[in-house]
Amino acid sequence: MAMDPKRVKSDLVLILDFGSQYTHLITRRIRSLSIFSLCLNGTSSLQTITDLNPSVVILSGGPHSVHTPDSPSFPDGFIQWAQSNAVPVLGICYGLQLLVHRLGGEVRVGNTQEYGRMEIHVENQSALFPSAKVGHNQIVWMSHGDEAVTLPSGFNVVARSQQGAVAAIENPSAKFYGLQYHPEVTHTPEGMETLRHFLFDVCGVAAGWKMEDVLEEEIKVINDTVGPEEHVICALSGGVDSTVAATIVHKAIGNRLHCVFVDNGLLRYKERERVMETFEKDLHLPVVCVDAVDQFLTKLKGVTDPEVKRKIIGKEFICIFDAFAQELEKKLGSKPSYLVQGTLYPDVIESCPPPGSGRTHSHTIKSHHNVGGLPKDMKLKLIEPLKLLFKDEVRQLGKIMDVPEGFLKRHPFPGPGLAVRVLGDVTEGNALEILRQVDEIFIQSIKDAGLYDVIWQAFAVFLPIRSVGVQGDQRTHSHVVALRAVTSHDGMTADWYYFEHKFLDDVSRKICNAVRGVNRVVQDITSKPPSTIEWE
Ligand code: XMP
Repeated sequence: MAMDPKRVKSDLVLILDFGSQYTHLITRRIRSLSIFSLCLNGTSSLQTITDLNPSVVILSGGPHSVHTPDSPSFPDGFIQWAQSNAVPVLGICYGLQLLVHRLGGEVRVGNTQEYGRMEIHVENQSALFPSAKVGHNQIVWMSHGDEAVTLPSGFNVVARSQQGAVAAIENPSAKFYGLQYHPEVTHTPEGMETLRHFLFDVCGVAAGWKMEDVLEEEIKVINDTVGPEEHVICALSGGVDSTVAATIVHKAIGNRLHCVFVDNGLLRYKERERVMETFEKDLHLPVVCVDAVDQFLTKLKGVTDPEVKRKIIGKEFICIFDAFAQELEKKLGSKPSYLVQGTLYPDVIESCPPPGSGRTHSHTIKSHHNVGGLPKDMKLKLIEPLKLLFKDEVRQLGKIMDVPEGFLKRHPFPGPGLAVRVLGDVTEGNALEILRQVDEIFIQSIKDAGLYDVIWQAFAVFLPIRSVGVQGDQRTHSHVVALRAVTSHDGMTADWYYFEHKFLDDVSRKICNAVRGVNRVVQDITSKPPSTIEWE
């Protein structure tokens, strides 16, 4: 159960997704204009599209050619529906070609393919670029092989690339528009203004996507759904998503929400105390902390394979969650009915997979990251209040509900915790304790240097090897730790962060002086790919 998109107080701009890597970005850009935007698979049925009652439809780009036999397209009847309801349609890249092709124009493999930076010039006065005089030039980001060569009747060429390819088209009386380039990317400097002008001035969209309204609506939906005697459970990970999701549900149903936070012995320095303080003192969440340190570490003894570690941790987590639910059932006299999950919009957006992949749909869920995926036989109904939101919107919601700023900006932390940062057997010696201390010094130094918010994720890694050193005239044979800091947008790709030498020098000295058992500090200087962000 999540908020019903039809209850949002804003016009909806619907993106029909044909597989472009930029589709999520268009949705996010439009939301940044306070306009509600959703993304739907481009091959969805007409009913699915019209049920959402969009004010504008954007056809996304995609890696296909309209001439490939199974290339994706909007459903029959879409054009007629748009015209009879006066819904403007904007095709971007493949979306433009689709519009031209389906309306009877001609799309051909271009003489010259256009990828990357390109100059276009306005050929005819148009509603798309109102302030641009004929002859106006702008730089845009192109990415296409095919091009429109004959336009359907009623269409004009608005702009062409410097190579002569059609770059923008319109049929103002039918309210059909097309851009061959990508206005949503930052490499198209005037692109955002073109989108803004198109949506507000050409289409007359009324903006009203506000997180305050979203919160109010979410609370209403939860109250309408969860019966007055029903109870809800939630596993808090200490991360932003589960915390914000639980806080919304708590606002709606108060103490009929029951949260559990598990100390699995794989948490960071003082993490249990810190997150419990936020849950209890700042957010007043009803939360039970289960101390399962021995239970987890006993099961992990001697285990070195990263995937086996993940599986053990996931299974143990489920056992604890099950026991928590059963205890609760005994106390309440009835089973809890709902489970809160912090699923985000990018996890549910469907998009077209690359051609030739043999798939017709792909989900962007990273399955191996769903540690704490919950028991299927519990038969709990789901409450997913963040299901329509992007991460930055979740942070805004958290801010409105007074989740402390520092908490909202925390770097991501993997479900298996320090188990994937202590290479090898996590129970050997005092590896976990050493890692906690090193990590704390590293993170604190990053915060002191004002770098925490520019780095996407930073942490230390414990290496299961020893090296020779000399400390206080004594030869040592101690541990090596590695420091990892990366910049990234979504964790799918990442680059290592360039610290100044002075910073690295200070951190290394602090670590070796303060943490017994460490005599060598190294830095991880690999991007992803070829590495992953975590070491295991
Ligand atoms: P990798 O290491 O795959 O990480 O480049 C990408 C992002 O995902 C996080 N990560 C995990 N999160 N369970 C999680 O909940 C996991 O098993 C897991 N493994 C990696 C990682 O911290 C990074 O943010």
